[in-house]
This record gives sequence, structure tokens and C-alpha cells, in this order.
Amino acid sequence: MKGVILHAGHGTRLRPLTHTGPKQLLPIANKPMSNYCVETLIQAGIKEIAFIIGGIGSQKVKEFYGNGDKFGVKFSYIEQDYPKGIAHAISLCKNFVNGEKFIVFLGDNIINKDISEYIINFQKSNVEASLLLCEVDNPSQFGIAEIKNEKIIKIIEKPKNPITNFAVTGIYCLTSHIFEIIDKLKPSWRNELEIADALQMLIENNEKITFEMITDFWKDTGTPKDIIQANKKILENMNEYKNGQIEEGTTISGKVMIGKGTKIKKGVKITGPVIIGENCIIEENSEIKENSSIGNECKIIGTSISNSIIMSNCVFEGKFEIKNSIVGSNSR
Ligand code: DAU
Repeated sequence: MKGVILHAGHGTRLRPLTHTGPKQLLPIANKPMSNYCVETLIQAGIKEIAFIIGGIGSQKVKEFYGNGDKFGVKFSYIEQDYPKGIAHAISLCKNFVNGEKFIVFLGDNIINKDISEYIINFQKSNVEASLLLCEVDNPSQFGIAEIKNEKIIKIIEKPKNPITNFAVTGIYCLTSHIFEIIDKLKPSWRNELEIADALQMLIENNEKITFEMITDFWKDTGTPKDIIQANKKILENMNEYKNGQIEEGTTISGKVMIGKGTKIKKGVKITGPVIIGENCIIEENSEIKENSSIGNECKIIGTSISNSIIMSNCVFEGKFEIKNSIVGSNSR
């Protein structure tokens, strides 16, 4: 089975961070968010993955992922000229998929689940689509599924008055039949070819569509708040390592990941979960508190940071507090 990762779009809800690159490359626990999609697919045994790229910084996606050698699988890239919808992006994969069953992963969705079994179940089945659903408390922001007698009977994109709170997550197992369906779609009110409409058409044609539930963590990282929450969750699940140089007289508690070349000076207080990248300098009287990710090459002198993502090559100097924030690379 092949994999497709949607890595295009404008990322408007995350501006200004997305003025210089695609949102799917924004770091969560010091790794681009789409890297977690790649890992989930590879863990599930997918060996060939196509990235749909387009818009600002698509070159950066190619530069970061390359041909897949680094990951032990094969990567290819398909250009989408304009974000005309998820179904449009999927339609561009027809040649890549070449008649096989495939899995689509939205590059801004993060899960904390091994999906090998979900994929095997789909491969063995005779259904046209299998979805992963997750209960949410803000259903009007997602594609929503209505279920009766264990079957999906309706899918609506971002309903104003949702009947259920079962969100359709951005992970879809599909057959090549979906390309014929997408050919028949009309653009929605937001002028996009909607995946929800394609799935609804399958249902109306009485074609088989099934689902599994995600009861663990799932996040669509559409807003800064979502990204900060995803960062917290990933930090909580990481394995601790301390590869840097930690001077005597520092106070470290909780789970802490420290990259090589990083220096933690005496008098610094770190309360995990916290990740600090490579070649950073954390000077006396600085405090790095829970759920913070500090990128590579950062310098922090006397500042307190909590529940935040600080991207690479930033300098903070002074006695002030940064909390619940995302700070772009190269900030001073
Ligand atoms: O996250 C799950 C939700 O994703 C579903 O519940 C919705 O049914 C589905 O429509 C989608 O909703 P969003 O409004 O969150 O989709 P968004 O426009 O943010 O796009 C999702 C990803 O797909 C994002 O990584 C960008 C990429 N994309 C999007 C479009 C519209 C493309 O690569 N090309 C596109 O044309």
C-alpha cells in the first residue's frame, strides 16, 4: 500500500509563522510536524510516500525529506498549483497510486497511535474507504460523521449545528475508486473540492465505507493553541536523554531532553518535560519550565520560558517571562 502526505496549502491561520515556509514544517518538540506523519506511516510498513507540495517554501519540503534514503523508504513529490481542496490534492496522486489501495495523511495531523492494524484491516477488506474518527468538543470545526447501527450514514464538512461530535480525522484509507468520485465533485462554498463531499458521495452510492475510533491523542494543528497542545503531548511521550554539558549547581527535575553541544550553566532551573536542541547556551538565572521546546543554537540569558515553542537560533536576554508562545527562528 502506498502513502500520500498533504503538504501544500497556505497555512493562513498560522501567519506570520507561515510567511516563510509551509506550516507542516513548523517544529513540534524540535521536529517538523509532518515528520510525525512520516514516522507513523513508516511504522505501519508503508514504503512509498508521495508528498503533495505547493505554495510557500515547497522547496524546503524537498530539501528536508529528500528522496527518502534518510528514512529507509522512497519519497516523491507532486506539485499542486493552488490549494483547491483536499480532494483535489488527492486527485493529483492517480498515477503515483497506480491502481493500488493507499492511505492519505494530512500533514498537519498528529496521532499517538500505531496504525498498522488499521491499515491491515483495510487491505484485507472489500471497502472503498476506511476512516479514523475521534470524539471532539468543537465539532463544527471538522468533517463530522453521523453513525447509525455502527455504520456511517452521513459526512458533513464543518456543520454549523453538528449532530454528533465524531470528527473525521485527516487519515483516510482509500481505493483508486475515489478518483472517479472526485472527478464528479463540484467546488464547495469555500471553492474547494472537499474530501467530505467525496466520502458523502460514496455513502450515497451505497458503497462500503467503514471506520475505526481513535481514543488516544489526535490533533489537527490548525491554530497556535493546537500546536502548543501537541508539543505538550509529544514531550510527555519522549524518552529522556542528556547529551549536553550540564554544570554543577543546576536544578533539573522531570523529563528533560538535551541535545549535544548544549551548555546548561550553573544556577539554571529546568522543570520537564522540556526539550533543548543542539548547541544552545542556557545561562545563569534562566528558567525553562514545563512543556517547552527550545530549538538548536539558542541562547537564553536570565529569561524564564514556559509552555512555549522557541524555534532555532533565537536569543533571549533579560529578566522576563515567555509563556504559551511560539517564537519564530532567528528572533532576538
Ligand atoms: O484535520 C481533519 C480535518 O481536515 C477534517 O475533519 C476535515 O474534514 C478536512 O476538510 C480538513 O479540514 P481543514 O479545514 O483542517 O483542512 P485544511 O485546509 O487545514 O487542510 C488540511 C491539510 O491539507 C493541510 O496540511 C494543508 C493540506 N492541503 C489543504 C488543501 C485545501 C493541501 O495540501 N492542499 C489543499 O488544497
